[in-house]
Amino acid sequence: MPVLAVVGAQWGDEGKGRVVDWLARRADVVVRFQGGDNAGHTVVNEHGLFKLHMVPSGIFRPEVSCIIGAGCVVHPQALLGELAELQAQGIDTGNLWIDERAHLVMPWHLLLDGIEESGRSARDQIGTTRRGIGPCYTDKAARRGIRAGDLLRPELLRARVTAAARWHDIMLRHFGQPEIDVEAVLARCAAEAEALGGRIVDTTLRLEQAQDGGATILLEGQLGVMRDLEWGIYPFVTSSSPTAAYAPAGSGLGAGAVDEAIGVVKAYSTSVGGGPFPTELLDATGERLRSIGGEFGATTGRPRRCGWLDAVALRYAVRRNGLSSLVLTKLDVLDDFAEIAVAEAYSLDGARIDRVPTTDDQWRAEPVYEWLPGWQAPTKAVRTWDALPAAAQAYVRAVEAMAGVPISHVSVGPERDAILEVPR
Ligand code: GDP
Ligand code: IMO
Ligand code: MG
Repeated sequence: MPVLAVVGAQWGDEGKGRVVDWLARRADVVVRFQGGDNAGHTVVNEHGLFKLHMVPSGIFRPEVSCIIGAGCVVHPQALLGELAELQAQGIDTGNLWIDERAHLVMPWHLLLDGIEESGRSARDQIGTTRRGIGPCYTDKAARRGIRAGDLLRPELLRARVTAAARWHDIMLRHFGQPEIDVEAVLARCAAEAEALGGRIVDTTLRLEQAQDGGATILLEGQLGVMRDLEWGIYPFVTSSSPTAAYAPAGSGLGAGAVDEAIGVVKAYSTSVGGGPFPTELLDATGERLRSIGGEFGATTGRPRRCGWLDAVALRYAVRRNGLSSLVLTKLDVLDDFAEIAVAEAYSLDGARIDRVPTTDDQWRAEPVYEWLPGWQAPTKAVRTWDALPAAAQAYVRAVEAMAGVPISHVSVGPERDAILEVPR
């Protein structure tokens, strides 16, 4: 029946992976539509605990086709490592496909990501994952990228790798790096083609067949709107578009294909990397959120910056994505707090604003908080909405009112059964 886009409604790490793993029980196809192995999507299920980077979170169900869409960038070695890990944990990865149009993260992209990041001043640091994402998308836009399908055409690959190496050598030489060894790169590509070749296909046929057959298709986003290339805190953003509007583009579906865009939002805020973050708490409360919530990056292990929920950013996420509902995760992390704040507006140079301002102004935006009573009772074992403490229910309803769209589910733990339906 439907095509659902599942996207991050904050700065990433909202719990998209676990929501997709859970929704996949009713899906036929899951497509990752953008980003690369900068993602860290944690899934906890009966098979164990997994940190997925490139593989769609539907992989735990062998009947679900998993597609790495054309909008993604793929580091073949990293993907092979991830597949090997999954297989070692008993997961059948036979149903993973890579669109031939997806771009490849090449060795020079990783080098350039590091070089560029090291050259930025403390305030300008994006804090990238150093996975080569920005330089790879740069090459895609500059039309000198190498695509997954090129791996299957040795002559074309040789020409494109040679041309790309020639170009990048100019910059790498400037930074004192050795010349790219084209033959070594091609040898590595040959091994990658051997290992991944059978999975590299034109995925549009499969998707069309799925659509025509009335299949349920999930489009899995990476990161969140606040780090979207267009709509995020530019330049502290990733180099692709994690918003739901891009989901059909990166997957190969048409503009009207998405029936519903579901936003995943944490019960508080976190951000990894640089840039403004108005509700950031640099005090003991922030530290408490980090330690209770286990807020350390799934990809880089970096401590995540933590703060109260930002309803200004959440409303922005609802509009920029066209969200029709939200899944609110990590409610249990707030169990011990006597009072919980939500930023319902900002104060900017003394004036109250209730919209997300430009990045430059966000540095000076001060949160205007509404304080809500905590519940100070454990919720981790709760399995129905009715069994949640009244103050926890009230918190969810308050967030829903501020967001302007229904919260369909809340989660109180990372496991599949810790997702509770919120009554209408
Ligand atoms: P993603 O990148 O959006 O998929 O999110 P991450 O996996 O990077 O970060 C979410 C983290 O929160 C993971 O460690 C999840 O296991 C964990 N998590 C997700 N939902 C819940 C929840 O409801 N409660 C708790 N305590 N942890 C959760
Ligand atoms: P998931 O999918 C949180 C951040 C980086 C950096 C900026 C750009 O797990 O939510 P990049 O490597 O993409 O060039 O870095 O984006 N970032 C993430 N933050 N979760 C992620 O993925 C992220 N992927 C990138 O910290 O600030
Ligand atoms: Mg993550």
